[in-house]
Amino acid sequence: MAALTLSILCLISVFVFTEFGESLSVYSTTSTVTPMSKPFKHPNGPSTEEAKTASFDLDFLRNCIRIGETVVSCTRRHLHHVPSGIPVGTTRLNLTSNLFAVLGPKTFPRLYNLKFLDLSRNLITVIQPGSFRNIYSLTTLYLNHNSISAIPNGAFDGLASLEVLGLAYTRLSNLNSVGFLTPTLKSLNFTSFAGNGVTSCKLGNEFGNLKRLTFLDLAYNDIADLEYDCFASLKKSPVQTLDLSFNKIKVISQPVFWPFRNLSYLFLGGNKLDTKRLNTTFENLNSIETTSLRLSFYNSTFLAGVQRSTPLNSTFERLANLSITHLDLSHAGLQLLPESGLFSFFPRLESLILVGNNITNLPPMAFRGLGRLKTLDMSKNDHFLNVPRGSFVSLDNLTSLSLTLANGRSYIHGSVFFNLPRLRSLTISGPAGAHAVGTFTKFSLRGLSRLESLIVDWNDLPDVPSPALTAVKATLRKLSFLHGHISALKPGTFVGFDYLESLDFFFNKLSTLPKNAFDGLVNLTYLKLSQNFIRSIHKTAFSGLFKLKELYLENNNLCVKADIPFPPPFTALSSLISLHLDEQTLDCYAPGGIRSFPPDFFAGIASLKKLLLSGNDLRTMLYQEETSRPFANLTSLEVLYLSHNNFDAMTPLPFENLQNLTSLDLSFNKIPSIPTRLLESLPNLRKLELNSNRPLGKLPKDGFGILQNLEKLNLEDNPLQCTCEEEWFYDWVVSNKTKTLFNNLSNYGCVSPESLLHKTILDFDAEAQGCHDKTGIHLAISGALILAIFFVGAGIGYRNRWYIKYGCFVIKARFHGYQALRDENVQKKFDAFVSYNHHDRAWVMNELVPHLEEGGEEFRLCLDYRDFVPGAPITDNIVNAIYDSRKTVCLVTEEFLKSEWCEMEVQMATYRLFDEQVDVLILVFLEDIPDRALHRYHRLRRLMCKRTYLEWPKDPQGKALFWERLKDALKTGDRPPIENII
Ligand SMILES: *[C@@H]1O[C@H](CO)[C@@H](O)[C@H](O)[C@H]1NC(C)=O
Ligand SMILES: *[C@@H]1O[C@H](CO)[C@@H](O)[C@H](O)[C@H]1NC(C)=O
Ligand SMILES: *[C@@H]1O[C@H](CO)[C@@H](O)[C@H](O)[C@H]1NC(C)=O
Repeated sequence: MAALTLSILCLISVFVFTEFGESLSVYSTTSTVTPMSKPFKHPNGPSTEEAKTASFDLDFLRNCIRIGETVVSCTRRHLHHVPSGIPVGTTRLNLTSNLFAVLGPKTFPRLYNLKFLDLSRNLITVIQPGSFRNIYSLTTLYLNHNSISAIPNGAFDGLASLEVLGLAYTRLSNLNSVGFLTPTLKSLNFTSFAGNGVTSCKLGNEFGNLKRLTFLDLAYNDIADLEYDCFASLKKSPVQTLDLSFNKIKVISQPVFWPFRNLSYLFLGGNKLDTKRLNTTFENLNSIETTSLRLSFYNSTFLAGVQRSTPLNSTFERLANLSITHLDLSHAGLQLLPESGLFSFFPRLESLILVGNNITNLPPMAFRGLGRLKTLDMSKNDHFLNVPRGSFVSLDNLTSLSLTLANGRSYIHGSVFFNLPRLRSLTISGPAGAHAVGTFTKFSLRGLSRLESLIVDWNDLPDVPSPALTAVKATLRKLSFLHGHISALKPGTFVGFDYLESLDFFFNKLSTLPKNAFDGLVNLTYLKLSQNFIRSIHKTAFSGLFKLKELYLENNNLCVKADIPFPPPFTALSSLISLHLDEQTLDCYAPGGIRSFPPDFFAGIASLKKLLLSGNDLRTMLYQEETSRPFANLTSLEVLYLSHNNFDAMTPLPFENLQNLTSLDLSFNKIPSIPTRLLESLPNLRKLELNSNRPLGKLPKDGFGILQNLEKLNLEDNPLQCTCEEEWFYDWVVSNKTKTLFNNLSNYGCVSPESLLHKTILDFDAEAQGCHDKTGIHLAISGALILAIFFVGAGIGYRNRWYIKYGCFVIKARFHGYQALRDENVQKKFDAFVSYNHHDRAWVMNELVPHLEEGGEEFRLCLDYRDFVPGAPITDNIVNAIYDSRKTVCLVTEEFLKSEWCEMEVQMATYRLFDEQVDVLILVFLEDIPDRALHRYHRLRRLMCKRTYLEWPKDPQGKALFWERLKDALKTGDRPPIENII
């Protein structure tokens, strides 16, 4: 019975030793503790100041998203207060769509770096003086869409850097009493009072404090009358832009803009300007003193009633003295330009915008006199029928012209562009949703000798109008046929387009790309073929495109599958950077899409950085070893999109060579877990999207810490297991050590345990779940271990007999007053016990003993063949030898490692470290030990990692140094710090 008790005691002591030793060495060897293994701190616990600064506040994590390093968004969270824990470095904060009602001096925490604050769409009714004093660095403050009918003086105290103040839709209807515009706001240059129901244009004197105001927005108010002194207080302000659009102005009956000396943009659109009294209105615009005025009547229908007989000349005549450079008459209801030369009153006009009117015909010489016009935009005149000869005559400086031609019978006269020698950009579109017909004749583009950009969208052309393009192909850089009916490309179509850089066939009817389809496009960098019906690509289709950087082939019908031959289509594209192959849909294989890649499908495009393959059916690619590495040659790849591909598992194989990958999107699949090896193979990953991967429940076992550079991680909308096992994740998220930005953490829902159903990872509570019940765990483990060792018995006992013997020895020694021996002041019998394998005995006798015992210093060595007590058990001998010596020198060779005795000697020497806090071990490597051989000896490896060790050198000079170092090591003290021994 006593024997049994003793053995159990021994076992316990062995266990405790082992446990202690292991954990101690873990802590001392891993100097870089990863965030995940950081000791747990519970943020809901007694929140010491330290805990607060070490972790993000849950309030913050629940309600806010970090969008960038210093950009925080907490929108639509029903907030009444600013969430606690907003990082002090935040520069932009978005608090729109919450429930803030009263702003006071305590509303905002001290965020000295905050420059940008958006408080739009709250319920703010009161702004107390000093509300913003804790965030005095603000440059932009939006308070739009609140119910602030009055603001006290001092509300904006301290905001000396404020440049932009948005007070639109806030019910501030009286701009005559604006005491809050104090001289503090000296930096303000933009302010908006739009949509406030303002009826009187009279601005209070305090506007004069805004010495830098350049933009004043008064749009969408109810101002009907503009009186002489409305803007008098802005006499000294540098206002450049005044927006009075969408008010109720019918007539400007007196001069009103006289205070503005720098006005260059006046918006008067969306008012109810009275066509019959325009002469008065325009007369009074003459009070604007400026050298260049952009005048916008956008969306005012004052020209809607113009009839063929209306004498507009006399109306526009009033503007003749104004230096109008830009006239915006878009959406003005204009149907007819009744007189030719109508615009000749604007000789300085540089841009004329007639977008979205109902112009159907142009009178001859419509734009006579506009010799300085550069931009003429007549797009969205969807019923425009005829562009007669001479329409654009005299527009000598026109560089950009946009026309929309009516569906059906439209007609462009063959020589209409003849007189536009400077035209660089021409857009001739059909009305969106319908197609213009008969746009081009052979001569349509004659005379456009400098044309660089030709946009022919929404046309009915059945193929590329090569005869017409002949006139411009030598200069063209951009050509676009969006939303057309082009169904075939003939080889050689683009021969001679030497400068073309961008070619766009988005949304046409192409079904094949024939051989040499793009020959001649030696400078093409951008080719868009998305939204066609392309099923096949000839292997020479892209030949010659050696400058192509971006190729868009998404939304086509490519049938790609490993066992269907598909000659590598991209071999010529040696400059390709980005390739879009997403959403190939066709019933060629239900449910369609790319399934796997034939060998070499991506051959020739080793420069590729961005590959988009979302919305295909690549699940099967992983079923076979041969098809699971399609990207093996794309070693430059940085961005890879694989979302919506039905993946039901994921392996590291596709990513094996992608050392440069920085962004990987695996969202919207059915991947249940992410193998750690996958993450290991992507050392540079910065952005990882794993959202909506039902059933992704388990996070990688070793966490995401492997991804040292991870900046963005999206795990939204996954059924997370919020159990103790995932505690590291919670810990990682809450820890502010991580640079990683998460998406909306309130979408990280838990499916287990039961108590967290319908809650999120942020509700995880390690204490409540009993994750930290360490004593319990340890008791259980100890119990189990004792029983296991006890019952499994002999086998394990045999393997661990040295530990057991040693444990027993220590206990015995303690009982028998062995203490004295361990006293550090007691003189040891030996300087070093030499542990070696009998194969190395010759070296000990011929090298070690002579150098250490017979040199000048005379160390006393303990050697088994000489100093062991004959007849005593060998274990007793070893233990005594180790304890009677100041150091233990182990001569490590392969044979040494194989020998059990030697292993025991190493073990015991290390135990002495923990038993007595004395470090005794000196490792001497007599030969090179291959890593493989060291593999089994974890403890030894760990020791080696921690300290330098001695190697027996091959050359004689080295040997002298070796002996010196060994002697030094023998002389050093025994005390930790253990790190610097030898
Ligand atoms: C703030 O967030 C809202 C809602 O997401 C967004 O509409 C708004 O543009 C954001 N504000 C700014 C200025 O970025
Ligand atoms: C206001 O001033 C800032 C800085 O001087 C400038 O960047 C911004 O463009 C200005 N805004 C307006 C509307 O003038
Ligand atoms: C403006 O036109 C109306 C009617 O066409 C005319 O009675 C009025 O005198 C004109 N006013 C000015 C200032 O020319």
